[in-house]
Amino acid sequence: MTDVLERETGDPGGPDDADLTMGIDPWERNWMLFSVVLLVVFAAAVTIAGFAAGFQLPGAESEVDPRTIASEGRWAEPGLREVGDGQFEAYVMSQLWSFSPRELVVPIDAEVDIYVTSQDLQHGFKITDTNVNMQVVPGQVSKLTYTFDEVGEFPYICTEYCGQGHAAMFGTVRVVSEAEFEALQSGDGVTTGDDADAGGEAAAATEDDG
Ligand code: CUA
Repeated sequence: MTDVLERETGDPGGPDDADLTMGIDPWERNWMLFSVVLLVVFAAAVTIAGFAAGFQLPGAESEVDPRTIASEGRWAEPGLREVGDGQFEAYVMSQLWSFSPRELVVPIDAEVDIYVTSQDLQHGFKITDTNVNMQVVPGQVSKLTYTFDEVGEFPYICTEYCGQGHAAMFGTVRVVSEAEFEALQSGDGVTTGDDADAGGEAAAATEDDG
């Protein structure tokens, strides 16, 4: 083996034969080792993010027709719906240049499946201080699930530059105590959230969740 190497390389002054493991230069071997370690680190990071930190990839949940989405189906009345004990669904519509609803009122510890779509062009949907962050593509439904375990206000914004009014595309998730949520629900407007702080726009406030 060493004979072959010496004949072929003509001994260019590299490492002594004694330093070679299976004919591999120590530096080369260290780089190979380093790249294997990197792969292990990356795989561990993905595993920890996915299973321990709860990172999810926004799924392309389903397809919708962006031409009729504003008038038919779930997004015709966007907002929060209770689907079980502590289980909610939020339907958010994006369009130039706003989100409907502008406010989602959520009880603490609610697990919310968030479905977002667009009726015109590509937008983004990110809820501040959470790991909810997804692209919103017309014709597609983006979905992420999040449990709001802290009372407070969590603004949501458009993260995809969509023209002049891009900076005006925002809204708020307001996480309230159980008691406050029940009080609001027995009043009105909780299901759509749109009218909670919209001032003069709050015309139709009667809403029932099925
Ligand atoms: Cu919508 Cu930026």
